[in-house]
Amino acid sequence: MNFEELLKRAKDVRKNSYSPYSRFKVGAALLCDSGNIYVGTNVENASYGATLCAERSAVSAAVANGENKFTAIAIAGGSDKLEFCPPCGICRQVLAEFADRDFKVILCDESDMKIFNLFDLLPESFSLKR
Ligand code: THU
Repeated sequence: MNFEELLKRAKDVRKNSYSPYSRFKVGAALLCDSGNIYVGTNVENASYGATLCAERSAVSAAVANGENKFTAIAIAGGSDKLEFCPPCGICRQVLAEFADRDFKVILCDESDMKIFNLFDLLPESFSLKR
């Protein structure tokens, strides 16, 4: 699986974003160790705090399908044009729950791609000893 292909899945699912309040559409595609990919979009709500981010939608879909080891996530977001859309703090923490040290976060705008290590975006992350 190359990261361009994963980004394409994020861009495709972004079209289904439910975001009538912010008009900021986000799509995410999560690659599992199994090779399977699960996608998600942001799902907003009239009670704004009930909004679900695209990344956590994708995590939820994966876990519901019995997956809990992830390799990478591609995120495509923007109001109109695509702009780099780093995951919010809550999503970083949720991804960290299932991520190895080399888990990658792939972002894009209209013309470029950026790749980060999740744990560079979330230094000194919280975890309970398992
Ligand atoms: N959003 C995401 O889906 N993922 C993020 O990591 C940041 C923000 C969504 C939530 C809301 O629907 C919209 O973007 C604007 O905040």
